[in-house]
Amino acid sequence: MNSEPIISLSHVTKRIGRTTLIDDLTFDVPQGEIFGFLGPNGAGKTTTIRMIVGLMSITKGQILIKGKNIKTEFEQAIRHVGAIVESPEMYKYLSGYHNLVHYARMVPGVTKERIDEVVALVKLETRIHDKVKKYSLGMRQRLGVAQALLHRPSLLILDEPTNGLDPAGIRELRDYLRHLTRTEGTTVIVSSHLLSEMELMCDRVAILQQGKLVNVMPVQHFTRGNDKVQTYQIQAQPPEQALVTLRKMAAVQEAKLTPEGIIEIATERECIPDILLGLMQNDIRLYGVQMVSQSLEDRFLEITGGGQIG
Ligand SMILES: Nc1ncnc2c1ncn2[C@@H]1O[C@H](COP(=O)(O)OP(=O)(O)O)[C@@H](O)[C@H]1O
Ligand SMILES: [Mg+2]
Repeated sequence: MNSEPIISLSHVTKRIGRTTLIDDLTFDVPQGEIFGFLGPNGAGKTTTIRMIVGLMSITKGQILIKGKNIKTEFEQAIRHVGAIVESPEMYKYLSGYHNLVHYARMVPGVTKERIDEVVALVKLETRIHDKVKKYSLGMRQRLGVAQALLHRPSLLILDEPTNGLDPAGIRELRDYLRHLTRTEGTTVIVSSHLLSEMELMCDRVAILQQGKLVNVMPVQHFTRGNDKVQTYQIQAQPPEQALVTLRKMAAVQEAKLTPEGIIEIATERECIPDILLGLMQNDIRLYGVQMVSQSLEDRFLEITGGGQIG
């Protein structure tokens, strides 16, 4: 996408005393994307979000929201943001609808039509006139999202929105976030410590570890976007020469040598015979081949270099 990013972080750093909580984060999120912050507890997801929404100062670097600097043009920047960082305050003895009406009074330009619209967006139509105390956790959260959407933000930020939701709730969350990006063009940032959830929800994820950005990548890269591509281990002699040969092959998507001296490649099953033949034609001796099924978590560990999750 060529258009200006909705949010742009450059060299964002947060220090408190001598501790660096966030270290030199740089990335952009384009319009309409669902973008995830993925990382173990303590990685710095909430801290990053707090800086984005102006709840915490930025030590170094800058954050632009639709080109407006959150530090120097706070009002113009924050106008584009709707966020749930801590769980939103709701009046339990009022209906969901009256909570929204009450909140809307504090936000300029919110019409009754807009209230109905956000209720529909988060799919609360049938329960919106029930009292909030009767809502499930997922419904309360949806009401919070509806509230955050009232002023038509370009960017919606939800910190750990799947916490406490069951799988069905997570699926619903994903569906309405997707619906939101499609119908309103909203950009969404969500954080989570669970890769499996991010994979279902996001287009791209930024992987955070100990305050550092490990990588930003499309979620398909975790599964390689292709179920047919699997990891295979090959025992070959000499391994270094085998690696050089494998890396020249178009059918081989990745090739590396494990510390145990075993080669690992990513490829499709159909390509295996030709790959082995190619090795043999290069005078490489083969001792064994096997498929290693790799879970998302394994893939995560590989990408983060072995850090713990969750
Ligand atoms: N106000 C603060 N003062 C000092 N340290 C903090 C403060 N807020 C968070 N931290 C520390 O910063 C790190 C990142 O925390 P946080 O952003 O909450 O991580 P996450 O949301 O990814 O679990 C943690 O080590 C946490 O203890
Ligand atoms: Mg957090």
